[in-house]
Amino acid sequence: MDGSRTDDTRKAHLEIGGESYDLPIHSPSEGPDVVDIRKLYAQAGVFTYDPGFTSTASCDSAITYIDGDAGVLLHRGYPIDQLAQKSHYLEVCYLLLYGELPTGAQLEDFTQRVTMHTMLHEQMHYFFRGFRRDAHPMAIMVGVVGAMAAFYHDSTDINDPWQREVASIRMIAKMPTIAAMAYKYSIGQPFVYPQNDLDYASNFLQMCFSVPSAQYQVDPILARAMDRIFTLHADHEQNASTSTVRLASSSGANPFACIAAGIACLWGPAHGGANQACLEMLREIGTVDRIPEFIARAKDKNDPFRLMGFGHRVYKNFDPRATVMKESADEVLDLLGVEDNDTLKVAKELEKQALDDPYFAEKKLFPNVDFYSGIILEAMGFPTSMFTPIFALSRTVGWISQWKEQLSDPAMKIGRPRQLYTGPSQRDYVDVENR
Ligand code: CMC
Repeated sequence: MDGSRTDDTRKAHLEIGGESYDLPIHSPSEGPDVVDIRKLYAQAGVFTYDPGFTSTASCDSAITYIDGDAGVLLHRGYPIDQLAQKSHYLEVCYLLLYGELPTGAQLEDFTQRVTMHTMLHEQMHYFFRGFRRDAHPMAIMVGVVGAMAAFYHDSTDINDPWQREVASIRMIAKMPTIAAMAYKYSIGQPFVYPQNDLDYASNFLQMCFSVPSAQYQVDPILARAMDRIFTLHADHEQNASTSTVRLASSSGANPFACIAAGIACLWGPAHGGANQACLEMLREIGTVDRIPEFIARAKDKNDPFRLMGFGHRVYKNFDPRATVMKESADEVLDLLGVEDNDTLKVAKELEKQALDDPYFAEKKLFPNVDFYSGIILEAMGFPTSMFTPIFALSRTVGWISQWKEQLSDPAMKIGRPRQLYTGPSQRDYVDVENR
């Protein structure tokens, strides 16, 4: 385990039925110690029980670190706010993939490699046309990314480092093209090809918003805001979709299948789908006078309703991404001259009332990244259905970095959780006429 220490002077002691077991303790470079239970079943014949993995480290990783109490998120050691302010998405991609910030020459080479892979295999256009016009862009993304394995056979061998590298670059490069095509398809406009003279974020904006019949000029402030949204979502430890990618990959599945699995998981409203759900919730609330009613519902144990864009499994103080996103939202709305429309008024007042409410304070529920990202994306002109695809394209580099790390980990095994079985014990089959 690189970067961690196993402290031989300290052991965790576990007593079961009069027998005592010593379990090794590993100290990470940051964060709480980890008790190693890998040999527990072999030695003691018991499993551990941890639904939702709230206390379980599923792997060792040197990519991202979150201190949820302090509101810190580090990418390879660098704080997210510094990266969001001073760096840009492709540099952060390099950092996540290769572990260090690039030199000028390395960055130029990496940018060139990504830029050269932005076009999609032309035959994939036909694949798009098989979807219903009103398909959700996330449904299209899951399908199209999974189908990449059928179009790029030469980068599916996970045991070949060169193929792993090419698959990684292809996905980072093509994901904006796929997301933009999903959008264009849903509104009945022609697909727009990538333009290699534009930077990553500007290229995405032009593929989404330009049409062949008119000139389109990307506003540099909007491109910067877009790039920052990509950067803020680039990676986030062992969250649900990343763990899904790792679990899929543990069976030896090809990279495109693994990332498609991650996209499918991200779609859920408790995860990446929250940005869409949040904006829809703000619209449903509609006017500030209805906020107390929705806060009361969120607090009601008998009502499944939750305030979307609030709460986080790990952050219990504030979400550092939300802080940067909020600043960005102000900048973008100012640039676009967006007056406080109803949605924005509701968002601001909801945030205030929830933060003043003891329920949210006691449960440590704060606005997360998804609370503000939807407001910016809507102001930029994206429909709510595109919010989660934008999250997916941003997170692709994180998934790929974790996938590559897992494949080079000698301790990698197929993921195979145990269970606490609560079904019937063995019983004999009864013929249908005797039931
Ligand atoms: N509104 C109202 N109550 C909430 C909320 C919320 N948004 N989130 C958590 N709670 C309550 C929950 O009812 C529970 O109460 P009790 O202790 O009385 O049973 C307590 O807070 C702890 O909640 P939990 O569900 O055990 O916490 P978790 O760590 O399993 O869930 C979460 C984290 C993000 C899934 C959850 O806070 C949530 O559903 N939030 C809304 C969806 C959302 O915004 N998701 C985006 C997360 S950030 C981006 C990403 O990771 O993709």
